[in-house]
Amino acid sequence: MDERIITTRELFDDGIIDNSIRPESIEEYIGQKDVKENIKVFVEAAKMRNEALDHVLLYGPPGLGKTTLAYIIANELGTNLKTASGPSIEKSGDLAAVLSTLEKGDVLFIDEIHRMPRYIEEILYPAMEDFTLDIIVGSEGNTRNIKIDLPPFTLVGATTRAGDLSAPLRDRFGIISKLQYYTIEELTEIVKRTSRVLGIDIEDKAAVSLASRSRGTPRIANRLFKRVRDFAIVEGKECIDEEVINKALKRLKVDEKGLDETDHELLLAIINKFNGGPVGIEAVASAIGEEVTTIEDVYEPYLLQTGLLKRTPRGRMATPLAYEVLHIDYMKDVKRNENR
Ligand SMILES: Nc1ncnc2c1ncn2[C@@H]1O[C@H](COP(=O)(O)OP(=O)(O)OP(=O)(O)O)[C@@H](O)[C@H]1O
Ligand SMILES: [Mg+2]
Repeated sequence: MDERIITTRELFDDGIIDNSIRPESIEEYIGQKDVKENIKVFVEAAKMRNEALDHVLLYGPPGLGKTTLAYIIANELGTNLKTASGPSIEKSGDLAAVLSTLEKGDVLFIDEIHRMPRYIEEILYPAMEDFTLDIIVGSEGNTRNIKIDLPPFTLVGATTRAGDLSAPLRDRFGIISKLQYYTIEELTEIVKRTSRVLGIDIEDKAAVSLASRSRGTPRIANRLFKRVRDFAIVEGKECIDEEVINKALKRLKVDEKGLDETDHELLLAIINKFNGGPVGIEAVASAIGEEVTTIEDVYEPYLLQTGLLKRTPRGRMATPLAYEVLHIDYMKDVKRNENR
């Protein structure tokens, strides 16, 4: 299992604690102002009309709160939430099984919806549009089509890659919301909330410092918080201060900008092995021994967002800011590239 602290993947050993710090109402959900406001209006309207909420697609990098928001939508609607994930729906029967458990107004949450097989998508279309399930039953030589009426329900799909969704599927969502990286102020609020829920104090300045090293991502803020708390406990401190944070994050190899060893390796590979780029993502991936998709989904979005990495038609480039952060002379590479 991936033990790096910066990983945005959900580690199941954190599951119990994660559930306790996960906000349950829209009021408790910090940040994402636009998304939140839209959802509030649509939920309210659906309740007033006594209809199911339109289907919702949530997309954005891992750990920004898609799953959390799906649960909140069901809570705010006052309905049940059933969950499934794209890769786990392999057969039409799998989908039919979840769909047939739905009651009027329920939310069906499909995580990683871009990984659902295409033929499953095709069963989903009429289910989303007309609330009917068209399936083939029976075996060879003796099959027939049956049509089952479903109660009106809301599909909430989550994906880190909206671009991988087929157009017909995307078009069937009435509400499409992109989650953004969180500001330091919002993450500071999240850190303080986590500190209250877990019952250990954190100084204001320390909360800001932790927030600024969380890559705009609540899941990372919470994960760092838990590790920092361990350091505080071992040191016998009742309140987390900046000293503990600095010490802990140094040990965890997270720098002032929240970059971890893999981020450094990635930027260093582009700079040292490819003269700063442009270089294709496959070459970068093999240079640091990571999967292309991991780089694209987990590492790159934040490096692009913070302006350390640039995407050009000819490949990825390290920006002058990346050189500065890594304390490398940018002009030396510029001259070397000019001489090529
Ligand atoms: N807006 C928020 N306010 C407070 N805490 C949040 C917020 N969003 C997320 N969190 C916290 O961050 C954790 C991760 O969020 P969540 O699991 O919803 O992310 P995700 O977008 O579904 O990630 P993935 O793409 O990996 O499935 C949650 O356990 C929750 O505690
Ligand atoms: Mg999730």
